[in-house]
Amino acid sequence: MIKFINPSTEKPYIHFQTLYHKALANDQRGIEAISVSSYNQKMNEVEARYVNLKYIDDNEWIFFSNYDSPKAQQFKAHNQVSVLIFWPSINTQIRIKALISKTSIEFSDEHFKGRSKEKNALAISSKQSQTINSYDEVEKNFHETLKTLTSDTVRPDFWGGFSFVPYYFEFWQGHKNRLNKRYVFEQKDGKWEERFLQP
Ligand SMILES: Cc1cc2nc3c(=O)[nH]c(=O)nc-3n(C[C@H](O)[C@H](O)[C@H](O)COP(=O)(O)O)c2cc1C
Repeated sequence: MIKFINPSTEKPYIHFQTLYHKALANDQRGIEAISVSSYNQKMNEVEARYVNLKYIDDNEWIFFSNYDSPKAQQFKAHNQVSVLIFWPSINTQIRIKALISKTSIEFSDEHFKGRSKEKNALAISSKQSQTINSYDEVEKNFHETLKTLTSDTVRPDFWGGFSFVPYYFEFWQGHKNRLNKRYVFEQKDGKWEERFLQP
């Protein structure tokens, strides 16, 4: 589930919220899973991965991750991302282009406090995406960290939120005979321009 804080009343956001509630009503599983693609400058490659979108606060779309992970390094070097959502229950794809940065320290702290001990133990104990010798090592680190956690454990600096602000949306809705509808919103000089694209 995605939590809406200070929901935006701008047109693409209203459209997004309508589709989100329609997909929820149609029992869409994994509704918060979004694919985020980023540019790896060093390798001259684009990389995609799913993350769980936790909040949309006005125009900020927020998920959480490891700040030393490959994705974090890529966001730092190139702050533009491409985000993709597919909700098969309503045959809808949403493509987003956005600029990404870290959320505020306070927001990350607050979210960390509200998570389960197990999730936080994993966030603390995992050096995300680094090569391991064995899975046993990961389990051992996790269980040792879990034992040390208390309700006062603070968020480590290397874990927190990322927030992206979209400047482009394309809502794609599948229809009979491939007469698919593609509705674009693009931000120009602070205003959303609308247009439709050929299927
Ligand atoms: C449905 C789904 C949701 C995920 N959510 C997150 C998430 O919220 N944060 C995260 O760091 N990784 C999440 N992952 C794991 C990432 O896809 C990825 O494996 C990991 O973040 C390492 O990515 P990186 O090496 O590009 O930094 C999720 C994976 C799946 C399949």
